[in-house]
Order: sequence, then C-alpha cells, then structure tokens
Amino acid sequence: MRKIVALVITCLLLSTTAFAAGTKATLPKGYEKWERSSEKIETDKSSLFYGIHYIYVDKKAMPAYKRGTGYPEGSTFVIEYFNIKNEGGRQIKGKKNMIVLMKRDKSQRNTGGWLFAGFTPDGSLSRLDVVKNCFECHVQEAKNRDYVISRFSDFKK
Ligand code: HEC
Repeated sequence: MRKIVALVITCLLLSTTAFAAGTKATLPKGYEKWERSSEKIETDKSSLFYGIHYIYVDKKAMPAYKRGTGYPEGSTFVIEYFNIKNEGGRQIKGKKNMIVLMKRDKSQRNTGGWLFAGFTPDGSLSRLDVVKNCFECHVQEAKNRDYVISRFSDFKK
C-alpha cells in the first residue's frame, strides 16, 4: 500500500512539473522589436523548415551568440516562420505558420537548460514533446554551442 501511495505521489509530482513547464512558456512581449536576422529562405519542400523565417535575439543572449557559448539565464531566441508566396516570379513571405522559442532556464534539465516551445501563428502554445520534437535535433547539431544552431556570423546576410 505504501508503495502505491508513493507511486501515486511521484506521478502527481511529475505531471505537475510537466504541466508547470508547459504553462510557463509564453511568447515574450515585444520580441518583434529585438534584433532581427535577415530573411532566411528554405525552398526545399521536403525540408522541415520549408518557408521563410526570421530569428529574433534578445539583449541578454546577444553577447553569448557572438561568442558562440555561455548564455546567461533568461537569454531568449524566437523564430517566426512564414509560407512562401510567389508574386511576379519573386518569392515573398505569405502567411505566418509557426513560432518557436528557446529561453535559457536552468530548471529545464531534460532539454539542456533551455525552455523549448512551439506556438501556433496566433501565439497559442502547441502541445508537443519538446525532447523528441525539438531538443534531439538541437543536441545533434549544436552540442558544443549550448544547443544554439544558428550562428551570429549568418545572422545578417
Ligand atoms: C530537425 C532539426 C530541428 C528540430 C527538430 C528543431 N529545430 Fe530548432 N533549429 C534547427 C535549425 C537548423 C536552426 C537554425 C535555423 C537558422 O539558422 O536559420 C534552429 C534554430 C532554432 C532556434 C533559434 C536559436 C538557434 O538554435 O539557432 C529556436 C528558438 C529553435 N530552433 C527552437 C526550436 C523548437 C522550439 C523546436 C521544437 C518545436 C525545434 N527548434 C525543433 C533545427 C531544428
């Protein structure tokens, strides 16, 4: 009986932490005014990142972004993704289709000390497994750059 009670308590604790981690993720106010990358275009339709996107970097993250490591608590990146629209032979941005967030947060131990979150275009949190759907790729690509894949040298091109 005691074992079962302990198990139930552990489950409750685990589910509330998961819930807390999920609800904490909101888009930072005013990120549209942060330093923004040039427009990045991925035209390969088979790519997960097909579309046009912009990376926003807050003031806290910028010095570490330039160095490539050592992000202080609270450092934040936001990416906005748009569809590609063809207009007179030019590729321009269409509808926004997704927003992603990475925020330095020591308590997020399963995802390398970053809060990962995905949002719908209107800013509501998407329910997804951020370890499998986000972190695993970031580990593979940028283990020695604190899991930040893009580089400052490509920021404005
Ligand atoms: C298949 C690999 C892959 C997956 C899965 C992935 N990303 Fe990324 N992510 C990238 C790449 C590549 C970049 C760099 C984009 C660029 O240079 O323009 C990136 C960049 C980012 C950035 C900007 C900071 C950085 O690392 O450069 C954020 C924020 C981000 N991703 C969040 C997420 C979130 C949240 C998820 C899950 C919903 C996710 N990513 C899933 C590959 C991935």
